[in-house]
Amino acid sequence: MEELNQAYWNQRYEQGNTGWNIGTVSTPLKFYFDQLSQKNLSILIPGGGNGHEAEYLLSLGFTNISILDIAPKALAALEERFQAHIGNTLHLIHADFFDHQGQYDLIIEQTFFCALDPKLREKYVYQMFQLLTDQGKLAGLLFDTQFPAGPPFGGNRQEYQDLFSKHFNFKTLAPCYNSIPQRMGNECFIIATKKQADF
Ligand SMILES: C[S@@+](CC[C@H](N)C(=O)[O-])C[C@H]1O[C@@H](n2cnc3c(N)ncnc32)[C@H](O)[C@@H]1O
Repeated sequence: MEELNQAYWNQRYEQGNTGWNIGTVSTPLKFYFDQLSQKNLSILIPGGGNGHEAEYLLSLGFTNISILDIAPKALAALEERFQAHIGNTLHLIHADFFDHQGQYDLIIEQTFFCALDPKLREKYVYQMFQLLTDQGKLAGLLFDTQFPAGPPFGGNRQEYQDLFSKHFNFKTLAPCYNSIPQRMGNECFIIATKKQADF
């Protein structure tokens, strides 16, 4: 398999080969965001390349949003689009997710997990654990289907249950009832909180 590194992702943006871009915030995340009342939550969107979730959060008045992405090309476009918010309510971070350090109340998953080499899945879960505050939450969408060749790489709920339960408790891990039409029946919604030390 080709290495899924900065060069790979940047080239996909350069070539406009971005089939994952649905052009707007996904319906399940929109509804999830709509019911959050605490506007000052620190929110991280890793692999947030197209910025749709951030755009919607900004429109709702959230004040502490960070988009992290490995592709400079994606970030350059966001810099132009969100000039008025950058350094204020929106922070752009050029980094490899696995190298990032920080603490967030909420981390959003939207076609990032599925973009990573599946051998990194345990590392992803641990990095999420590290990046969340003790009361923090991971929320978003995971594919509940298989693909012939990735990315995207698929999975299923049992696999996610096994993978995340080492470090997280599930508030939700359920078939998604309000997916966009082209993903209907093929995703689950996850809300997971950090397991606390039990000593
Ligand atoms: C399939 S795209 C999804 C983009 C966006 N979440 C969306 O739904 O439109 C995956 C994104 O993850 C980014 N990415 C891939 N590996 C990464 C890594 N190790 N660290 C940070 N970003 C990464 C890519 O540059 C790309 O923007």
